[in-house]
Amino acid sequence: MEIHRLEKIWLAVSLVFIVALVASIVYGVAGMGVGTVGDTGQQLDPNGLDQTRFADPGGHWVDDDHYVVNVVARQFLFQPGTQEPIMVPANTTVTFYVTSPDVVHGFDVVGTHLNAMVIPGQETKLTTEFDEPKSYGIVCHEYCGAGHQSMAGQLIVVP
Ligand code: CUA
Repeated sequence: MEIHRLEKIWLAVSLVFIVALVASIVYGVAGMGVGTVGDTGQQLDPNGLDQTRFADPGGHWVDDDHYVVNVVARQFLFQPGTQEPIMVPANTTVTFYVTSPDVVHGFDVVGTHLNAMVIPGQETKLTTEFDEPKSYGIVCHEYCGAGHQSMAGQLIVVP
């Protein structure tokens, strides 16, 4: 039986799509793709945050050139971030750990590459360095309930 030439072409095209799809899944699963959740993040009990680094949310120095900020994203605010801004030093490695005690939220520092999902039971880890003092908005970009659109905060990079 002879296969029409156009049919062959379309068979080839669909085969390429299937291979590309499988390849993209393998790529993502293997951890080489862009992570939505911190790949090195830890599991934790969302009801037991007082037993974790999130017991007292906020920032602190780890050593001379490393600053850590622990942030709790909850309906409908960031702690810290919403009621008081997150303050971080410029020209320093800054690591954010973010988690949620309730539902899925987003943590997006507008105008930077810092953008991740925040999932109950997981610790999202984001590391960066800000090279100049500046103020950034923080928004939740995952629908999380009635107050989602007002869930926002501020990040201030200080000299
Ligand atoms: Cu939190 Cu949307």
